[in-house]
Amino acid sequence: MKNISYDYGNLLRSDKIQNGITNSDFVDLSQEVAEVHLRIQQDQQLETVGFFSLPDRNVDHLIAAAKTLRERFETLVVIGIGGSALGNKALFSALLNSKNLDREVIVLDNVDPNMLHQVLSSIDLENTLFNIITKSGTTTETMALYLIILDVLKKNFPDTYKEHVVITTDPEKGFLREIIRKEKYLGFDVPDNVGGRFSVLSDVGLLSSAFAGIDIKELLRGAAAMRKRCNNDDISKNPAYLNGLNHYIYYKKGYRVSVMMPYSNDLYDLADWYRQLWAESLGKKIDDDGDFVFTGQIPVKAIGATDQHSQLQLYMEGPNDKIITFLEVEDFDNDYVIPDLFPKINEFAYLANKTLSHLLNTEKIATELALYEAGRPNCTIKFPALNEYNIGEFIFMYQVQTLFTGYLMNIDPLNQPGVEDGKKNTMALMGREGFEQMAEQVRLKIADKDKQGAKI
Ligand code: PA5
Repeated sequence: MKNISYDYGNLLRSDKIQNGITNSDFVDLSQEVAEVHLRIQQDQQLETVGFFSLPDRNVDHLIAAAKTLRERFETLVVIGIGGSALGNKALFSALLNSKNLDREVIVLDNVDPNMLHQVLSSIDLENTLFNIITKSGTTTETMALYLIILDVLKKNFPDTYKEHVVITTDPEKGFLREIIRKEKYLGFDVPDNVGGRFSVLSDVGLLSSAFAGIDIKELLRGAAAMRKRCNNDDISKNPAYLNGLNHYIYYKKGYRVSVMMPYSNDLYDLADWYRQLWAESLGKKIDDDGDFVFTGQIPVKAIGATDQHSQLQLYMEGPNDKIITFLEVEDFDNDYVIPDLFPKINEFAYLANKTLSHLLNTEKIATELALYEAGRPNCTIKFPALNEYNIGEFIFMYQVQTLFTGYLMNIDPLNQPGVEDGKKNTMALMGREGFEQMAEQVRLKIADKDKQGAKI
């Protein structure tokens, strides 16, 4: 099986990329890199960071469960948010066309009533399974959607509604685990030592994938192959460390934006998965020494060739503060030849008999060169094909890269303290028991703000 590759030539210093990385940038950081490597090795041995061992798990039980569920249901709706949703979306989108997946996976990851309405009106409820995914079992959005769906199911199928629900949550703790036990729902696990946004290769992403028809063993095989490459302390052979280090060096040089731009619509949701991983892991106020640092690089997703006609002008001529990662697919499973309908008309003739994938990838090469010549740093991850193995490799690489970069930044890439305030304010305003005092304070603060507000 061909591996994904990482081409970072356009990040190195040259007459065009004048802010580029030099050998001495690498040398200056070699001590830090060695320390971070040891720390990551320790994380694996002590199993404090659980995603490392996920590729070794026996997933036969998931395959068996998915087989039974596939016999009964046509559609699976995931109810979850953040790390409990984005990986599911990414996997399904990435493999839908190339693997001709024969079951549908829909991800409901917002409490937008129109979104829910659209999903409920598009599905055949009788043939739909709902997978409620929440590690904590307390996430407001997931709980609200779960309650609505449960009610709909109970009304439609008073005797069999439980058959339409599976729950994926902490193996021991939480209210939903209790419900699984008491009400005998089919339950799946989010391991305790695997954080939400690092959980796509656990039951969180694997059950829905197996249901859709994805070969999850192959996905894990790709992840295991990448783990081997990422355990290499020779940074020049370790794609996760190298890409992490390159991003870190550019970050230090003032490049505050990281654009991921797949030349493949199927990979757009994978860029969205990356957006969460990079943002939530690296966006931190306080470092490991307790100092205020306000770290983070803003992840942006764009899509080629479409965004050449929307974002590229900014990337070429706007602030030179972006490091761009292209995702390129070498071999598309579906393709079209452009017909030679007007051989005498210049505007058409040059396209004749070329494939669409050739045009798409040529546009990528052309854009990459234009950016290079404009002094804009960019790199490419190349997928030999859109298959489980290559997607598994990519996911694992980016998880290690994120951990590595967070440790280089001397912050905790595994927590997300910044999302707590908003969550608590919502619970208080929605009247959750125990939050009464806080609700009062929040209302006063909002009223105060409104008084001094600027509105027209
Ligand atoms: O990465 C994370 O930990 C978060 O994005 C969570 O996945 C998200 O908040 C959902 O949490 P939970 O799975 O507990 O509902």
